[in-house]
Amino acid sequence: MEVLATPAAMRAWRRARGGTVGFVPTMGYLHEGHLALVRRSVAENDATVASIFVNPTQFGPGEDFERYPRDEVRDLALLEDAGVAAVYLPVAADIYPPGFQTYVTVEDVSRRLEGEARPGHFRGVATVVLKLFNGVEPDRAYFGRKDAQQLRVVRRMARDLDLPVEIVPCDIVREPDGLALSSRNVYLTPEQRAAAPVLSRALLQARSRFADGERDASVLRETVRSIVLTQSRGTPEYISLADDETLAEVSGKVEGPAVLSLVVRFGQTRLLDNIELSPPNP
Ligand code: PAF
Repeated sequence: MEVLATPAAMRAWRRARGGTVGFVPTMGYLHEGHLALVRRSVAENDATVASIFVNPTQFGPGEDFERYPRDEVRDLALLEDAGVAAVYLPVAADIYPPGFQTYVTVEDVSRRLEGEARPGHFRGVATVVLKLFNGVEPDRAYFGRKDAQQLRVVRRMARDLDLPVEIVPCDIVREPDGLALSSRNVYLTPEQRAAAPVLSRALLQARSRFADGERDASVLRETVRSIVLTQSRGTPEYISLADDETLAEVSGKVEGPAVLSLVVRFGQTRLLDNIELSPPNP
């Protein structure tokens, strides 16, 4: 496995390599969720590139950029074991050299939900993802459904800017008790960790009401809220039932594909989860 540090080295590697390349962008501190993306890419492409870059521009002031968990040695060993051909490991000065002033803004879909809670976050994500794509020139790029809004922002950017890359969404990987895997789960205290599966429990309950025919968006949001409120450690920040593509809130009845998502705050840690709902075709 090769480790490439600069955009120029990355691009030279890509251009020397024939065949299809799958790409898994990460901020490191890898878990089974990342490795599921890597395994899928390895299965579907001639070669897989993963990147590890904790991107400063997607963290707001007072967020956890400095203390974001990092373990490069372990990450490299896991990626090598999983069959990755090259790891792109740039430093911030290569991605954002002095004088840098060009950013990508995906307008509408970035503004809602996480965009409201974390102003500038998706501008940082879209900008770095485009820069990583420019280095790796992948045929396919793999993103987890766990970050539902990020997936939609990147998909919109790829369509709007005619990027020659297929964005491949991959299912959420969960702990046996339902908690969605996230590098930030390490921040939870044992008590918060014990309470955290309430997110997936609430979503599953709402999904089961949806399967039984409930289509009223406010009833489905309220189902989630009432279950989250059965425990006292986590405070719901938002519960959203939104159009699957634009993430505009559904008012009234759910008539097309939708995403039910929530954020629950446990102390300083915000946990996200979501589930997709699709009414059967008439
Ligand atoms: O999902 C992440 O880990 C990051 O947001 C990404 C896509 C690697 C961009 O920094």
